[in-house]
Amino acid sequence: MCGIIGIAALLGKTPQRPGLMVYKGLLRLEYRGYDSAGIASISGDRIHVLKGKGKIADLEKKLCLSCIDGLTVIGHTRWATHGAPNDINAHPHTDCSGKIAVVHNGIIQNFRELKQMLVSRGHIFKSETDTEVVPHLVEEFYKKFGNLYEAFKQAIKMLHGSYALVLISTYEPNKLFFAKKDSPLIIGLGEGFNILASDIPALLEYTRRIVTVRDDWIGYVSPTEIHVEDLSTSNIVDWSRYIRIVEWSLEDATRSGFPHFMLKEIHEQPRALKDTFYGIQSDAAVAKAVKLLLEADKIYVTGAGTSYHACFFYSLTSSILAKRIVYHFIASEYPVYTGTAGENDVLIVVSQSGETMDALKALRAFRERGVKTIAVSNVVDSAIPRESDIAIYTRAGPEIGVAATKTFTTQTLVLSWLTISHGEAYGVLLRSEAEELRKWLSMSSELVARVISWNESLARSLAEWLSRKGNAYYLSRGIGVPVAMEGALKLKEIAYIHAEAYPAGESKHGPIALVEEEYPVVFTIPKHEELEKTLLGNIQEMKARGAVIIGVAPEDTILKDQLDYWFKVPSTHWILTPITHTPPQQLLAYHTAVRRGYDPDKPRNLAKTVTVE
Ligand code: G6P
Repeated sequence: MCGIIGIAALLGKTPQRPGLMVYKGLLRLEYRGYDSAGIASISGDRIHVLKGKGKIADLEKKLCLSCIDGLTVIGHTRWATHGAPNDINAHPHTDCSGKIAVVHNGIIQNFRELKQMLVSRGHIFKSETDTEVVPHLVEEFYKKFGNLYEAFKQAIKMLHGSYALVLISTYEPNKLFFAKKDSPLIIGLGEGFNILASDIPALLEYTRRIVTVRDDWIGYVSPTEIHVEDLSTSNIVDWSRYIRIVEWSLEDATRSGFPHFMLKEIHEQPRALKDTFYGIQSDAAVAKAVKLLLEADKIYVTGAGTSYHACFFYSLTSSILAKRIVYHFIASEYPVYTGTAGENDVLIVVSQSGETMDALKALRAFRERGVKTIAVSNVVDSAIPRESDIAIYTRAGPEIGVAATKTFTTQTLVLSWLTISHGEAYGVLLRSEAEELRKWLSMSSELVARVISWNESLARSLAEWLSRKGNAYYLSRGIGVPVAMEGALKLKEIAYIHAEAYPAGESKHGPIALVEEEYPVVFTIPKHEELEKTLLGNIQEMKARGAVIIGVAPEDTILKDQLDYWFKVPSTHWILTPITHTPPQQLLAYHTAVRRGYDPDKPRNLAKTVTVE
């Protein structure tokens, strides 16, 4: 996730030089993950920019970011979404005149149209980023209004998507202009200086008095003044009502107060899903991918670990909604399947890191046979998207905890979108049906927020019981099976409890032999009448042997009397099953691991990115 820090200061009023403060702020933002960084300040009638790809410490050696002069300084750590991680795409971005510079966190959904319009008016773009439209738009409006704040407001009104934006300009050299929608931004209040930052760690060394910027707020800060308006109502905001004092230590703050990255990342899912949804809507790669799928003889999908579960889910939704068989296989098993593929086929490779060796090998082997390839990844320009014909990105932001959480739910969002578009283009889904399904997907952020708040405390209390167990079953049917598999994997990998997932109908063919009094069985119960009815029998056969039934089930489930513990989720369309039913299972595994005294961020024997076969 990109990180922002900016300072507007009076000479001699800051604890350290503003350039050094911004540089140190960037180091505090490093934990968010980034691939490039940059800094800009106002010097005379020009803006001085230092930026590049790589680690901040290396850029410091090369460019001396911290040496930058000036009293109005902005800095940025970039996590690539549009455009490869390189020196040019690094922020800050400037307009044609070099008098305006911008840093941005989020996604500007309509940047293609805006860019086209600006190019037709003679603007020259240097980068491939969505962000660069902002300084050019402001430049354009400044020509018209001759007033920077007015130009900034007009530009912001044209943006669709998510943004935390900070802009500096030689036209008003002592101000930081800002706007926010769906991406985090805070104001830090100083004496003779004010700060804007993505989060608390970046400014905690300099002030503890902060104001959290709300969605649709727009305004500016100078060293001695703060002005805020609400863009949706045009009212002036009395920001002083929102001042709060931060009591965290710096150490706490690096995980934004969460004890582990995994828990933080579980809680980031509403934001991750919203950004991914915005991204996918405006992504031209989706239409290209659909075209490939329509023309394909055979469709394959592959991935490893959690990503494989997303592949399995995709294959099921494709059969149901697009009426196309998709062959799903675990990436390391690719040699079995390569021989069946040819140049009229398509392979989709799902990998959050984009670097998993098994998945990369599968991709290369299929490409050698002339197969067209589509990558679904969370890391722009990583090996798998780079080597694929088409790359589609989730926008979960960096995932630091080894166990995948937000990358899984965002993968299933992207893959569901792909299925719906494919089904619609294939003529098996009516336009109205496709639109209805997309509408459900658009609600995923809000629904997952509800799921998390409803289930956190049950997960914590149930973990106390589960932490004493040595085995568990995770069962479901149909589209719930990959979700059950993901639940079991979470418990295994971080709590070190053996957990097995399988389609519930298989119980009587072997696994039920193990069930005895107090045996934990977690049922993923999708919002689907037929599945609920058939799961009833499976629950009863487990209960009859003394199993404890933990259900992840919709609030109106017909099975509620059967459940010993009930993780309640909103009643939605079954296509959202991974998004609504996985977070309670992530929380259960997380709290069980913590209860057993393990560090869920660093499970034994596992690595985040497995670049060996
Ligand atoms: C490792 C990680 C898993 C992940 C898998 C696939 O095993 O520990 O959490 O699901 O790799 O990673 P990918 O980056 O390809 O999605």
